[in-house]
Parts: sequence; structure tokens; C-alpha cells
Amino acid sequence: MSEYDIAVIGGDGIGPDVTAEAMKVLDVVSEIFGFRLRRTEYPFGTDHYLATKEIFPDKAFEEVQGMNAIFLGAIGDPRAPVGLIEFGIIAKLRFELDLFVNLRPIKLYDERLCPLKGKTVDDVDMIIVRENTEGAYSGMHGFAHKGQALEVATQTMVYTRAGVERVIRYAFEIAKTRPRKQVTLIDKANAVRAQDLWTRTFAIVAAEYPDVKTDHAYVDAACMWMVKNPEWFDVAVTPNLFGDIITDLGAMVQGGMGIAASGNIHPGKVSLFEPIHGSAPKYAGKGVASPVAAVMAGSMMLNYLGETAASEVMEKAVADLLRSGRLKGVGTGDHRTEEAGELIMSEIKSLTAKV
Ligand code: IPM
Ligand code: MG
Repeated sequence: MSEYDIAVIGGDGIGPDVTAEAMKVLDVVSEIFGFRLRRTEYPFGTDHYLATKEIFPDKAFEEVQGMNAIFLGAIGDPRAPVGLIEFGIIAKLRFELDLFVNLRPIKLYDERLCPLKGKTVDDVDMIIVRENTEGAYSGMHGFAHKGQALEVATQTMVYTRAGVERVIRYAFEIAKTRPRKQVTLIDKANAVRAQDLWTRTFAIVAAEYPDVKTDHAYVDAACMWMVKNPEWFDVAVTPNLFGDIITDLGAMVQGGMGIAASGNIHPGKVSLFEPIHGSAPKYAGKGVASPVAAVMAGSMMLNYLGETAASEVMEKAVADLLRSGRLKGVGTGDHRTEEAGELIMSEIKSLTAKV
């Protein structure tokens, strides 16, 4: 029996609520498909920080590095200084584990979830490949004359040839396996001139993939097209900050933050899976947050681990429930967290019973 070591960080706000539900679903599929997830739960997040001043201790970080995957609920709580826990947990994992791909599928499972008029499930099926270790997130910033009237603040966007090339190549590798075989480069090279490195590297990598079509959009136009003509996108690759922004837009196009999931990936190494949504502290512990995005993150994690059939059943269960209307939606309060989890688990059981 395959066994996998999984680190689980529920985190802040609704993070622990949706994580608990996703774990129950993962237990059901692992039982059915005959593999084992050995979970180690970590208490890190804002509560833990406020109680202990500890964010992510070295010992735990070392343990996590030896695991197969990490599952994260959500991070963010106004009681902690802005960015402290985000950088101490999410960014630390992304940077120190070199998780250079942030993979964010945007797929519409049911037309009723889409806020765009006249768009169907065939129009919204794209994958955003967000660069995840460089750009505006590199952490290179500073302040001069802090607190003075003439204060100066700078933040440097950093792009390396190796960093840009590997994420572009990853996008082409995925596109190769998809029916439409298209990669769109989304940048702002007309204004952010350093992104000329993206333009040139994209052309070089594209030449190695003659079967994959290429396209280009400046990020402002890409936001417009994602709303007006989402069907134009198949795989898109983009620098870190743009990827952050357009995937929130994408999440709305596919039905809201309650469904969007992501993988922070370094192929072949321990990788991190999380819903895209935040911690929504006001709903914490109330049992009203939708666990669907967390379940979808679990499905992405299983796919990464090579448990493809189990991963697909999780996705299909959610899709079937949404299409048939049994899952009313993926918004807060559409279902109680546990009730949505139960629906998904029983759908998984009935789907696999027929096999
Ligand atoms: C995301 C989040 C993070 C980001 C925050 C929490 C630092 O918005 O994963 O999209 O900006 O990357
Ligand atoms: Mg974001």
C-alpha cells in the first residue's frame, strides 16, 4: 500500500474548519483507493503566534521538508502585524522549499456558478501558472527617512533567467498534455521593461514546443479578456504579482473563492496545496464556510502524489453535486461546512460503488 506523509497546517480563521472537512474526504478516498495518508498536524497560525510568539519553528520546518506534501487551510488575521504570519508561513514555504510553480486551475463546473453572461462550462477551462518565488515577492524592499515627510519606499521586482525559464517550461509541459495546447504569456513588458526577460525567454522555450501554440496579453488586457472571452485562454504563464491578482479574478469567473484551489509546486519535491481563499476570520469556527475549495486542493494534492484516480473522483463528485444542484453553491452559508463535506463523501462513495 502506498503511504504518504502529509503536513497539515489548518492556519487561521476558517482554515481549520475547511481543512478538517477536506481531511475527512481524503480519508474516505484513501480508504476506497487503498493508500494511506499519514498526517502530522501543526498548530501554526495567528492564535499560536499570539500565545507563544512562535511562527514556524526550525524543527517543524525540517520535519515538513521530509514529507511528501503539505496541506494548508488559510493564513491571515488582523490581530497580527500585516504580512508577518503570511511571510512566516506561506512565503517561507514557497521560498525555502523553492516551490516555483503556483498552479491555479480555473474551471467552471456549472454554468449557474459563472457571473459572466452567456458563458458555459466549455468557455472557462484554463490553468494559470503563476511564478511563485521571484518578482515583487522577492522581499527586496526598504524605507529611507522612515516617518518623515520625504520618506522613500522601494521594492524591487526580481527576475532571473533560470527562474523565468523553468516556470515557462512548466507551462509548456502542461499545455502539451491538454487538448488545446496553447500557452499565453501574460506580462506588462511594455511598461515594466525588465519583463523583456520574460518575452525573450518565452520565445526561446516556445521554439522547443512546435506543437504548442503561443499567445500574448498584457496583464491589463488579460483581465479584460478573462471576463469578456475566457475561452481564449488555455494555459497562461505570468509573473508572481500578476498571477496573484488574475487568479482572484479567475476564481470569481469559475464560481467564487469557495471553489478555487492551488498547488505550490516544485516537481519531484515536497509541495504545498491550499485553497486560494483567505481566512475570513469573522466566519471562523461557525461551521458555515464552504469546504469545496479545500476539497479541490486535496484533489490537486492527490494528483501530485500520483493518486490520479482518487483525485479525479474527488473532482467529479464536486462537479456532479454542483451540476445536479444537490450542492447549492460554494458560498459561505450555502451549506454548513460539515453538510457539504457529507454530500461530497457520499457522492464519492456512490461514484466508486458503480465501478
Ligand atoms: C495568495 C495570497 C498570498 C499571496 C498572500 C496571503 C501573501 O493572496 O496565495 O494568492 O499574495 O500570494
Ligand atoms: Mg492572492
